[in-house]
Amino acid sequence: MKLADYKATLSFSNGSPAVDMPIYQGNIGPDVIDIRKLYAQTGKFTYDPGFLSTAACQSTITYIDGDKGELLYRGYPIEQLATNCDFLETCHLLLYGDLPNAAQKVDFTSRVTNHTMVNEQMQFFLRGFRRDAHPMAIMTGLVGALSAFYHDSTDVHNAEHRDISAIRLIAKMPTLVAMAYKYSVGQPFIYPKNDLSYAGNFMRMMFATPCEDYKVNEVIERAMDRIFILHADHEQNASTSTVRLCGSSGTNPFAAIAAGVACLWGPAHGGANEACLEMLEDIQRMGGVSKVGEFMEKVKDKNSGVKLMGFGHRVYKNYDPRAKLMQETCNEVLTALGLENDPLFKLAKELEKIALEDDYFVQRKLYPNVDFYSGIVQRAIGIPVKLFTGIFALARTVGWIAQLNEMIGDPEYKIGRPRQLFTGSVKRDVMPIAKR
Ligand code: SDX
Repeated sequence: MKLADYKATLSFSNGSPAVDMPIYQGNIGPDVIDIRKLYAQTGKFTYDPGFLSTAACQSTITYIDGDKGELLYRGYPIEQLATNCDFLETCHLLLYGDLPNAAQKVDFTSRVTNHTMVNEQMQFFLRGFRRDAHPMAIMTGLVGALSAFYHDSTDVHNAEHRDISAIRLIAKMPTLVAMAYKYSVGQPFIYPKNDLSYAGNFMRMMFATPCEDYKVNEVIERAMDRIFILHADHEQNASTSTVRLCGSSGTNPFAAIAAGVACLWGPAHGGANEACLEMLEDIQRMGGVSKVGEFMEKVKDKNSGVKLMGFGHRVYKNYDPRAKLMQETCNEVLTALGLENDPLFKLAKELEKIALEDDYFVQRKLYPNVDFYSGIVQRAIGIPVKLFTGIFALARTVGWIAQLNEMIGDPEYKIGRPRQLFTGSVKRDVMPIAKR
């Protein structure tokens, strides 16, 4: 970051001395006011719950232009990556800063492929869960449990440990998500197969059985790989900020990523794809497209607490570019599977059309986000609804690790420790219980 040729001056109407604060500029995006010395200079904190106006770090990984609806991974537009690259190339880009050449791609793919198995003891963790446990509950447990197996690579301050942990997590997430699914349907776990692609391997671990192997369908394999690319990273979203804050204590990468899995589960964040599909199925059950108007009235009624899941975004105030690509993937998969008349897809497109013409949504700049179509395409592929967020976590793991490693690699980083505006009881004495 570079020092701007202008500064911010904070003045107070009560005569307190004004303070000057430096302004820094990135390569693109808003400038930042450096308030690190504000408390020391004024005895005051800034107040920004939800971090609407706060840059928590500097980063070189992902940039979103919310007004234009643009998303760049290390400068490359998501549309170009989703069209010209595969997920492992995107992982290499996010982790190391550039797309791999042919030789680097072979090496990186081989490193990931050779870490896809998990320790045989992991299956005993699963046995502790009820068969109907939510896959995200299982994943939160399993990912954290990985740190129990890799004492040789849990020192985040060791660059080699950070690199091997990244490879292990990227490689093992598909295996763990597939194990969580197999456990829920009472089928035996399927081991990874090293001659398959990353996405093909995942699909086979999900749907093969000892009695019948799974033949990877190329359209579905490509769609799965693109879904991974679209979910790989997204600046300082809630789960990435969780991973950074958790990792800032120096905890091991597996524990920090487990915290990200837990945060992603929320319906306002990664859980929205599951919530969106359930919302579409509810409307379908009520009568489908004919009931959209009634549903939208509920959404616009603040007291209903009903939101149009898969719509809206803290940063995008225009169409989420991932939603466009996801809709395209939806079209491709549904057509390839002869499901182009899928009622939920038609319902989703009708909902989108009505919302984008409705003043409530236009005024608030609410557009479809990545979660609006992802559920439909995953459902068409055969992924159960409860597993949608697990797939999001699988894909976002590379972004979480890249962001964690960037933070730990920054000599300026400190443990995160926000302050507060205290509005509770001031000091008071404990009274004997007889007098309370
Ligand atoms: C992801 O941060 C990321 O980058 C996240 C993510 C990633 O890749 O990591 O992109 C992934 O989490 C995508 C978002 C998935 N969540 C959903 O689809 C759930 C539905 N969306 C909303 O909950 C909401 O839009 C958020 C949480 C996504 C954003 O919320 P904000 O930025 O805090 O905005 P807000 O709630 O203050 O909304 C502004 C206004 C409010 O109305 P008013 O108070 O101004 O009258 O818009 C309304 C909200 O009530 N609003 C919605 C709405 N989203 C916002 N009204 C109806 N339906 C919605 N979906």
